[in-house]
Amino acid sequence: MAQRIDVKDLNIYYGDFKAVADVGMAIEPRSVTAFIGPSGCGKSTFLRTLNRMHEVIPGAHVEGTVAVDGVDLYGADVDPVAVRRQVGMVFQRPNPFPTMSIEENVLAGVRLNNKRISKSDAADLVEVSLRSANLWTEVKDRLNRPGSGLSGGQQQRLCIARAIAVKPQVLLMDEPCSALDPISTLAIEDLISELKSAYTIVIVTHNMQQAARVSDRTAFFNLAGVGQPGRLVEIDDTGTIFSSPREQATEDYISGRFG
Ligand SMILES: Nc1ncnc2c1ncn2[C@@H]1O[C@H](COP(=O)(O)OP(=O)(O)OP(=O)(O)O)[C@@H](O)[C@H]1O
Ligand SMILES: [Mg+2]
Repeated sequence: MAQRIDVKDLNIYYGDFKAVADVGMAIEPRSVTAFIGPSGCGKSTFLRTLNRMHEVIPGAHVEGTVAVDGVDLYGADVDPVAVRRQVGMVFQRPNPFPTMSIEENVLAGVRLNNKRISKSDAADLVEVSLRSANLWTEVKDRLNRPGSGLSGGQQQRLCIARAIAVKPQVLLMDEPCSALDPISTLAIEDLISELKSAYTIVIVTHNMQQAARVSDRTAFFNLAGVGQPGRLVEIDDTGTIFSSPREQATEDYISGRFG
């Protein structure tokens, strides 16, 4: 299910402004890759190009290729909606649909895809997705209650269940724990470690300990100055990045000397 991502010579623009320059990287299936770097270096921008969410912003575009299992997501005959089904996304703030029940939230993506699904298949899918998101036991007796009635950490796991329910191959997460307390954060980190047996996961985080705990590979992005594009400085095994990075800028960032 999980898939390999190959990014080549990617330049990312907002209108005339080049926000990110010349990114190349390979992301292995069934692994967790963390993106770190100072604010404004383009982590979120780059993440959004991996499922074509970038171009929903007027004037935003990319040059270069993002291939998932060898197929360029930006190829002429590729449907962006199909791409977003294949590459799911979880956002910084948990965003369950407030008027929908827990159950309907899990099914929301599937219903958006216009899939007809029987009642019993829907019930199975809800259970499997909530179990994968480590939320089932906490909500199984109140599936018809609103998703907005859950705690922040539970809401984030509900959003992960919703993303998983459409059976994506890749899961992108943009600072998924930044609005959560430490206990909920640990629950999400445990979940990420479990999900990587089935998915290719990319997570943006400002928390160095979190990157060190959950990721196999870490990519450090940096910015030469205001108005300059962000760049990938280096990507390597997480242990290497945190113990002996190749670049001085990486060393400075992870040791808290700037950023
Ligand atoms: N919708 C947008 N329109 C124009 N410029 C944008 C837009 N979103 C981001 N940018 C610019 O692109 C650059 C990269 O921003 P981005 O949000 O990707 O950084 P980031 O690394 O995710 O930062 P943070 O750590 O603060 O989330 C910044 O200069 C930012 O101002
Ligand atoms: Mg960001």
